[in-house]
Amino acid sequence: MIPKTQFVYPVLLLMFSSHILKYSNAVVDTISPGQQLNISQTIVSAGKMFELGFFSPTNSTNYYMGIWYKNIPGKTVVWIANRDYPVTGSAVLSISVDGNLVIRHGRIVYMVTDIVTNGNVTATLFDSGNLVVRDEKSNTLWQSFDFPCNTFLPGMRLGYDNRNGKSWSYISWKSDDDPSPGNYTLKLDSEQGNRILILNGDDEYWRSKLWEEDSNVFESPPEVRLNMFNFSFVSNLSMTYLTYNLYREDLISRLMIDSNGRLRQFSWSGNEWDVLNSQPRNACDVLAYCGGNSSCTEVPSPNCSCLPGFKPNSPELWNKADYKFGCSMISGLQCGNDTNIKGAEDGFRMLSKVVLPKNPLPLQVQTLSDCRSSCLNDCSCAGFSYISQSCSIWIGELRNLQQLSADDISGTDFFLKLPAAELGTGKRTPSKRKQLIIIISVTISASILASALFIWKVKMKMHKRTGEDLLSFDLSISPEPTKNEQSGVKQRQKHKKEVEIPIFSFSSVSAATNNFSLSNKLGEGGFGPVYKGKLLKGNEVAVKRLSRKSGQGWNELKNEAVLIAKLQHKNLVKLLGCCIEGDEKILVYEYLPNKSLDLFLVGNFLLMFSFSPLDCYYRFVFLLF
Ligand SMILES: *[C@@H]1O[C@H](CO)[C@@H](O)[C@H](O)[C@H]1NC(C)=O
Ligand SMILES: *[C@@H]1O[C@H](CO)[C@@H](O)[C@H](O)[C@H]1NC(C)=O
Ligand SMILES: *[C@@H]1O[C@H](CO)[C@@H](O)[C@H](O)[C@H]1NC(C)=O
Ligand SMILES: *[C@@H]1O[C@H](CO)[C@@H](O)[C@H](O)[C@H]1NC(C)=O
Ligand SMILES: *[C@@H]1O[C@H](CO)[C@@H](O)[C@H](O)[C@H]1NC(C)=O
Ligand SMILES: *[C@@H]1O[C@H](CO)[C@@H](O)[C@H](O)[C@H]1NC(C)=O
Ligand SMILES: *[C@@H]1O[C@H](CO)[C@@H](O)[C@H](O)[C@H]1NC(C)=O
Ligand SMILES: *[C@@H]1O[C@H](CO)[C@@H](O)[C@H](O)[C@H]1NC(C)=O
Ligand SMILES: *[C@@H]1O[C@H](CO)[C@@H](O)[C@H](O)[C@H]1NC(C)=O
Repeated sequence: MIPKTQFVYPVLLLMFSSHILKYSNAVVDTISPGQQLNISQTIVSAGKMFELGFFSPTNSTNYYMGIWYKNIPGKTVVWIANRDYPVTGSAVLSISVDGNLVIRHGRIVYMVTDIVTNGNVTATLFDSGNLVVRDEKSNTLWQSFDFPCNTFLPGMRLGYDNRNGKSWSYISWKSDDDPSPGNYTLKLDSEQGNRILILNGDDEYWRSKLWEEDSNVFESPPEVRLNMFNFSFVSNLSMTYLTYNLYREDLISRLMIDSNGRLRQFSWSGNEWDVLNSQPRNACDVLAYCGGNSSCTEVPSPNCSCLPGFKPNSPELWNKADYKFGCSMISGLQCGNDTNIKGAEDGFRMLSKVVLPKNPLPLQVQTLSDCRSSCLNDCSCAGFSYISQSCSIWIGELRNLQQLSADDISGTDFFLKLPAAELGTGKRTPSKRKQLIIIISVTISASILASALFIWKVKMKMHKRTGEDLLSFDLSISPEPTKNEQSGVKQRQKHKKEVEIPIFSFSSVSAATNNFSLSNKLGEGGFGPVYKGKLLKGNEVAVKRLSRKSGQGWNELKNEAVLIAKLQHKNLVKLLGCCIEGDEKILVYEYLPNKSLDLFLVGNFLLMFSFSPLDCYYRFVFLLF
């Protein structure tokens, strides 16, 4: 949102004495009354982290007053005062007689702040990137952190201040060389719990999973699971917001909503910005990417198709890969039609290996057949699922159903409601129900068989691979991390080829940690204790023994695995291998003997590692098929 406090008004400039800002050798981080900054002057925060001044985006003749990293080449701009009102090279920034920060541009005065003061104020740029206007008693009157642009820096907020009717939301640039407000907005949705939303215009574009109070992370790992960030939620009567800080002072990181609607977390590696996370990760995660009643496939390239029994609403656009109008049913359902014709009853088609559509409605029914008939009897029900004895139905339009490939190990079954004509059974035979039962039981037994076979195969494979000796493991030739994410989709296809990480024998892990002795214990987090291990060559490793209670669904697991595969970053602790024997799930990480690591290992961010044994397992699976 464009801060209301900014507006432009023409005034007759009163002549008043204004001294040009004088540069001595000392860094100037403050603008005081009577000083002004012209287009080629800047101020720099005390620790030389950030710089404030006018800049001109690439290929543009417009000037904007902004804040960027002082020591990072290429001017990475994190905040702009006048994104909706570009100026030319003659503009100057100063504090007006009434104590407001203004950009004078000819006879136009653009008010950066709109505060009531006695005129004796200063504007200081801090090392956090925050520009703060204070009065002579150092009371904060205004701060740039309260008027975000597209970049969410550590210490900033995302949320609402209901008491003052303010919100902290972030709007993308229009394009890489046009900072004016673009199509995408990052905001907090606090209606059914807290989560992050990306809007495209007014339409929802992507949403994160819900924030979990007790574990201080979003349900799904992507946004916050890195051991670099300490995200926290503040919620009280007057305000609700998400904020974060960095665990390490030497890190430079920013979260940004870019002009293509991607929410990306960057970290400065010393010579380039690494992308640590990018959401939505896949086209199929974009809300209604394929429109309603269609299914999305990600591999080999993002593609949409109508659900069986449905046709595109706009075949012309559909063929041009513009899917937004979605699909509708070819022939109508019998449901609700009084004309009772035998053999015309609606039925279901099972779609297997799918990611279920968004917005399920959970039902408290006990059996598959109750679940099925609940949907059948509700004319607005479009389909149902029945997983682990829990029934969900979908009302109306189906969105974001995703069809996974046949060799994908995740995914579930979805039963799509269709008219008899589309089910290929035509006439109703007396044995139809029986047929369904047979089909279901065959499916169930087949899946039991398949899983048994699968588990057996995994076990065989594991068996073959167990027994690598942790003690004689050579750290110097441990698997190299993959390159950082370049493009989500490409990476996604590539990760399948990533190979195994070492599996260590339990006995060698036990030996390395002196039988998990107390003296080797570094700490204990929610997911189990962490020990220091010693290898024969003298190297030290950190060994995390997961407690048995943690478990997770395949989807989250898969996301996590893909994430870890992508995020091999120098600031992350390197996973050297794992050990899965019987009930034991153990992760072995490199051990960095600095204090901050201990902090990660015993803090909340143990969570990040919690699914990783399964990550190991997951990679296995890909080796198998
Ligand atoms: C800005 O001010 C400095 C210091 O007075 C001066 O040297 C410089 O030429 C000015 N630049 C512009 C573009 O006016
Ligand atoms: C600037 O313009 C050049 C030439 O028109 C183009 O190649 C380049 O991509 C543009 N840069 C940006 C950031 O748009
Ligand atoms: C402004 O505040 C400073 C202290 O921060 C004080 O020294 C100065 O006299 C004040 N000036 C006016 C005009 O009030
Ligand atoms: C994490 O953030 C919370 C809230 O901002 C703060 O109280 C806590 O000290 C932080 N923890 C670390 C280790 O920085
Ligand atoms: C809510 O929390 C904020 C930030 O911690 C604090 O400044 C504010 O006073 C709190 N408001 C109430 C009503 O507790
Ligand atoms: C933003 O929306 C407009 C209008 O819908 C569209 O023409 C433009 O391509 C969109 N820009 C981006 C970067 O998506
Ligand atoms: C999308 O899928 C349809 C049907 O599965 C196929 O005919 C079409 O070639 C695919 N398009 C792309 C771009 O992959
Ligand atoms: C999808 O199907 C439902 C139920 O048949 C229908 O109400 C809805 O309008 C359809 N959506 C589109 C985009 O046609
Ligand atoms: C009711 O069903 C009959 C036979 O299938 C069909 O001809 C008729 O159009 C249906 N009526 C409605 C309102 O769908």
